[in-house]
Amino acid sequence: MADAAAPTRVLVVDDTQDDAVALAFELGRGLKGIETRWAEGADEMYAAIAEWHPHCVLTDVHMPRFDIFAALARIRAAWPLLPVVVVSGLVGEEVAARLIKAGANDFVAKSGVSRLAMVVERELRDARQRAEQALLEDRLRRQQSLFDRVLEHLPVGVWLSDAAGSSMYANPAALALRDGPPGAANAGYPHRRGRWADGGAALTPADWPAAQALREGRAASAERIEVAGAGGAPRVILNSAVPLQDERGQILGYFEVDQDITGLHSTEQRLRATERLLRNLSLRLLDAQEQERRWIAQELHDDIGQGIAAMRFQLARIVEQSREDSAREMAATALTSSQQLGDRLRQICLGLRPFELDAFGLMAGLRSVVAALAGRPGLALRLHCIGAELRYPPAIETAAFRIAQEAVGNALRHSGCGAIEVRLAMAPQHLVVTVADDGGGFDVAAATAADAGAGHLGLAGMDERARAAGGRLALRSGAGQGTTVEATFDLDAPNSHASDTTPR
Ligand SMILES: Nc1ncnc2c1ncn2[C@@H]1O[C@H](COP(=O)(O)OP(=O)(O)OP(=O)(O)O)[C@@H](O)[C@H]1O
Ligand SMILES: [Mg+2]
Repeated sequence: MADAAAPTRVLVVDDTQDDAVALAFELGRGLKGIETRWAEGADEMYAAIAEWHPHCVLTDVHMPRFDIFAALARIRAAWPLLPVVVVSGLVGEEVAARLIKAGANDFVAKSGVSRLAMVVERELRDARQRAEQALLEDRLRRQQSLFDRVLEHLPVGVWLSDAAGSSMYANPAALALRDGPPGAANAGYPHRRGRWADGGAALTPADWPAAQALREGRAASAERIEVAGAGGAPRVILNSAVPLQDERGQILGYFEVDQDITGLHSTEQRLRATERLLRNLSLRLLDAQEQERRWIAQELHDDIGQGIAAMRFQLARIVEQSREDSAREMAATALTSSQQLGDRLRQICLGLRPFELDAFGLMAGLRSVVAALAGRPGLALRLHCIGAELRYPPAIETAAFRIAQEAVGNALRHSGCGAIEVRLAMAPQHLVVTVADDGGGFDVAAATAADAGAGHLGLAGMDERARAAGGRLALRSGAGQGTTVEATFDLDAPNSHASDTTPR
């Protein structure tokens, strides 16, 4: 009955209309909202069931050209849930039992039709329940088949195992990810073999996420694990396990998921190897550049610088000793030019690599940079050192020097600042170089984004140099707040050489 307000349709099958009317009357006395229809024989009955869709059929047994057993068989085949109540006067108990066996829902003797309303009401209620149950079962079946189809085609391995680790279910993707003799797939996690994909060590049974899920009762996701896939080919999987618990928290088993990430893992490894290669290459280039700069500065200083010094000495002597005015004047002019040439050469050497850096250390190298900038109008440039001046490994001194040089250069070129402070905090275990300006500041995130203009390499270079020397770089800046660049080198860090640190 789909609608409570709609009448309940009852089909009465009887060869005598008076009997049919009497039955309908009897029914109407006991039940509300009943609509009846009369069928005289078998054909009328089938037609009425097919077209009128009664909720219940009341049928007589003995009618001309009517075989009750054949009728029941046909009704059960075509309308399995339709209640059929047999109403008859002339059958014994044995026949009544056979009728029930053949598919009648109940039997009511004509002598006891007062029961009829109650029987029909009960049959209608039972039929409703059967229909609801059939609907639920059908829905469940459809959900189950959908679930099966999803699992069948899911490119992710799914396992369902009991608390001992024995597998109760595995989808095709799960089986394809495990190699081994038939039946081995059923073996629980304690019998599984796998290695950590990053590192290569074999997993112990307790390492498997399934073991953790069973032990701790919570979902466990793994690092990457290398297993032997179908045919023994190594596959890398992401394996996770979720415990299955009853309402009291008792662990009944676990649900395991294997995601095949073999392709992703190898691409990542190749990418990491390429990154390492590029970094090494860039370090070599930086190193070669520093060596070349050091060599050129040295050559210029020792060779050309000495030549200029000798020339100046000679010119000074000519100025002193020449008695001819014009020759003295020309020599004085040449002396001035050679002095300017010497100054320029010193500046070039400083720009390349101040020899003070190698000879006396970081503080001395930076002092020469600051000295070269001294006297710029409107700029207060301060350099100071917290703690005793120390020497650090050449790689750290060079990195720190270049970072400070770039940071000062950036402040001068971009910030519009009035003051720059270069601060060195020197201790045996660490070195911190800070360059702070009071300029306009900038958006660090935008300037360091991967797609920031290709022509700007200073910030990336500072970071690269700091990391290459085992340190780290921090940048703080914001509109109107000035900029602070801070490079920190910890000497007990694995990449550093603390033992080289010596006080001056
Ligand atoms: N101290 C600063 N104050 C204001 N803006 C800055 C400062 N330092 C960097 N910037 C901004 O960040 C950008 C990137 O700096 P970066 O040093 O990477 O490149 P660049 O100085 O422009 O070029 P180069 O490759 O020659 O160093 C600069 O163009 C500038 O806009
Ligand atoms: Mg720059």
